[in-house]
Amino acid sequence: MSGKLFRNASITTPSDPGTPLGGDRQGGVLHFEHGALYCRDGVIEALGVEEEVLRGLLAGDVDAEVDCEGLPLIPGFVDPHTHMCFARRREGEFSLRMEGADYLDILRRGGGILASVRAVRAASEDELFSTTLQHAISAQRLGTTTIEIKSGYGLETEAELKMLRVIHRIGRETPLDVVPTFLGAHAVPEEYAGKPEGYVDLLIHEMIPAVSKQGIARFCDVFCEKNVFTVDQGRRILHAAGKAGLGLKIHADEVYDLGGAGLAAELRATSAEHLLAASEGNLRAMAKRDVIGVLLPGTAYSLRKACAPARKMVEFGLPVAIATDCNPGSCYTESMPFVFGLAVLNMNLSVSEALVAATLNAAYAIGMAKQVGSLDVGKSADFLLLDGEGPAILAYHAGVSPVVKVYKRGEIVSAR
Ligand code: NIG
Ligand code: FE
Repeated sequence: MSGKLFRNASITTPSDPGTPLGGDRQGGVLHFEHGALYCRDGVIEALGVEEEVLRGLLAGDVDAEVDCEGLPLIPGFVDPHTHMCFARRREGEFSLRMEGADYLDILRRGGGILASVRAVRAASEDELFSTTLQHAISAQRLGTTTIEIKSGYGLETEAELKMLRVIHRIGRETPLDVVPTFLGAHAVPEEYAGKPEGYVDLLIHEMIPAVSKQGIARFCDVFCEKNVFTVDQGRRILHAAGKAGLGLKIHADEVYDLGGAGLAAELRATSAEHLLAASEGNLRAMAKRDVIGVLLPGTAYSLRKACAPARKMVEFGLPVAIATDCNPGSCYTESMPFVFGLAVLNMNLSVSEALVAATLNAAYAIGMAKQVGSLDVGKSADFLLLDGEGPAILAYHAGVSPVVKVYKRGEIVSAR
């Protein structure tokens, strides 16, 4: 048994009431200016004003003591939406987009996601692991301690299972907690061009059962978008996934308002993601049905689009989370600090609202709130020390990471 005391810290954290924080509570955080955190075997046993934490400890409780030098201490970031398992970057495509090419047109012509599919199918499992590991290490240095990673560049049973094994292995071979999501419905693969229904049948009758039997994926996601999957196809795929015991997520209304947000509400999905083009009615329906909105302001930035209407979502009571969407096409970044800055400056969230979005609500969005997402007693001692006066430094020091130290389960895993 090892007890560790982190003292002299300026602590800011949401406190978990047992539900995600929406509406007026979106920015609900506690602050202890002279704070301390005590953990035993990586689990938080006490948190609060330093004097009070010390008063609760007995002689012999503290095996190690860390002076945090008054630095801001916040929960480790939870990145609830990434596609960082890929074999090759798509830098050429980025240049084309910057010259005016359209993201969905590139996909329609067999590039985009389909280019990533060719690369992943051709890569060995070890090759795919080593590129994914580079991204995971980079995310961890930038303060991510728990991460969701989607499959979706295999689009055939064996290649999807290979991706999920690689994603699972990232969780075993790094300090990160990793939540794998099956995204077989990311695009219609080339061999099913013009026959999307055939691929939907394959998803329902072969791929979802195989994924469920493999037992790695925790969620199933569908890209509902013009020329990708319709809302009706999404509904059938997610029905099958729900029956197979997977949690539900939707890439909804990223480019066109197809009604994916409405489908998320109808199915009481855990989350709907992107939502740039979602209608007000469907956002309100999501709020009523306790669906979390996962917003990806880095993707809007990289696609040169206006961000999702985060202020409206907060007004409607919809709990908002933020994520990197780290992928080789629409947003290539592992940086939660970057996305945090965009959430504050481009989506008009307050610093406290963005902090809740990047920690507790993000943990709820991937079913991890019992373990992580806030510095509550009983949760994992996952936290960051920042080089600044408070969490605002994450938005203020633009394009630079103020994360000085990253702790996972009470142990230091990255230091600057
Ligand atoms: O969330 N929109 C679909 N999927 C990803 C992009 C994947 C890619 O371009 O490789 C996204 O933006
Ligand atoms: Fe995505």
